[in-house]
Amino acid sequence: MTYSRKNIAAMAGYVPGEQPQGRTFVKLNTNENPYPPSPKVGEALASFDVSRLRLYSEPSAARVRRAASEVLGLRPENYLIGNGSDDLLTIALRTFVDQGGVAAYTEPSYSLYPVLAELQGAQRRPVELTADFGLPSADELLARLEGATLFLVANPNAPTGNLLSRETLREVARRFAGVLWIDEAYADFSGQTCLDFVGEFPNVVVSRTLSKSYSLAGLRLGIACSSESIIFEMNKVKDSYNVDMVAQALAEAALRDQAYMRGNAQRIVATRRRVTERLREMGCDVLPSEANFIFVRPPQPAPAVFAGLRERGYLVRYFALPRIDDRIRVTMGTDAEMDGFLSAMAEILGVGQA
Ligand SMILES: Cc1ncc(COP(=O)(O)O)c(C=O)c1O
Repeated sequence: MTYSRKNIAAMAGYVPGEQPQGRTFVKLNTNENPYPPSPKVGEALASFDVSRLRLYSEPSAARVRRAASEVLGLRPENYLIGNGSDDLLTIALRTFVDQGGVAAYTEPSYSLYPVLAELQGAQRRPVELTADFGLPSADELLARLEGATLFLVANPNAPTGNLLSRETLREVARRFAGVLWIDEAYADFSGQTCLDFVGEFPNVVVSRTLSKSYSLAGLRLGIACSSESIIFEMNKVKDSYNVDMVAQALAEAALRDQAYMRGNAQRIVATRRRVTERLREMGCDVLPSEANFIFVRPPQPAPAVFAGLRERGYLVRYFALPRIDDRIRVTMGTDAEMDGFLSAMAEILGVGQA
C-alpha cells in the first residue's frame, strides 16, 4: 500500500554525498570549495537588517539578476535565479518535459539528472559519452535526441571533470528541436564557457552556481541564463519566493567580488595540477580535469582505496555505476589537506611519496 504516485514509489531517490556529523573528516567528496567566501559576503551578512525578514523576498531576485548580467553579460531579463542550480534543474524538467515525454542527458554525468526525469514521470534518455568521456559526433547525438524536449549536459562534466567539445554543442544548439541546457557549475575552474551561445540560439540555457567557485554551497544560489522567452516560461514554474532575502543580499555581494573568486579558482587549479602529477607518479590514471575535482583510477580496486582513505579521515566519492566503478572522485582541498591526502594515498598504495 502506497499513497504516492507510481513513479515516486518505483524510484530510489537521489543520494547526496555524505555530510558527516560527529567525526571530523577532510571533506573531499562533494566538490565544495575549501576556502571561505569573500569577506564582502561577511560584511553583507553583518549589515543585514533582520527586521526586513518579516517581509517576503523580492520574487525575481532583481539585484542578483542585475549583478549576474554585469558579470556574465546579457541583460537582467536573461536571468532566472534559483535556490541552488538543483532548483533550476527541477524547474527545467517541469517547464520543458511532459509527463511521459523524453528527457535526455549525457552519461556518465551528474546523477541528479535521471532522478529529476523520474520525478517528472518522464522517459529517461541517457546519451553515452565516448570511451574517453567526450561527446559523440553531432550527427550521432542528434539521432539519439530524437523525441527529446530537453538535453542536459554538464560542461566541464561531472564526475569526470573533462571539458566537452564546444563545436559539437554549438551544432546541437543549432539543430536540436528542444532545449539544450549546459550546466556550467564548474566553468570558473576551466578556460571555457558556452555563455555566448545564449545570444546566438533561443533554445540554449547556461546555468551557473555559487556553490563551487564562490564557496557558497550552504547558501543555495543558482543562476540560469537564456533567451527572454525561455526565462519567461520558467518564471511561471518557479516558486514565487524561491530565493530568500538573506541569500539574495549575500549572493549579490559575492558576485560583485570577482577578484576574490578568481584568486581562489586559480589556487584550486594550481592544486589540481600538482595533485594530478603526484597521483600519476604513484601509478594512478587521472583524467585531465577542468573542474575543482579529479577522477582517479588507482592501481588497486577503487572501493578498497575509498575505504582506506575513509579510515585515514579522508572522505572522497565513489560511484558503484557502470564504466566508473573503478575510479574515485577527489575534490581539491587546501594544499595542506591535499598533502595529507597524498600521504594517505601513498600509504594505501604502498608506494613512496614522490
Ligand atoms: C554538474 C552539477 N550541477 C549542479 C550541481 C548542484 O549545484 P547547486 O549547489 O547549485 O545546486 C552540482 C553539484 O555537485 C553539479 O555537480
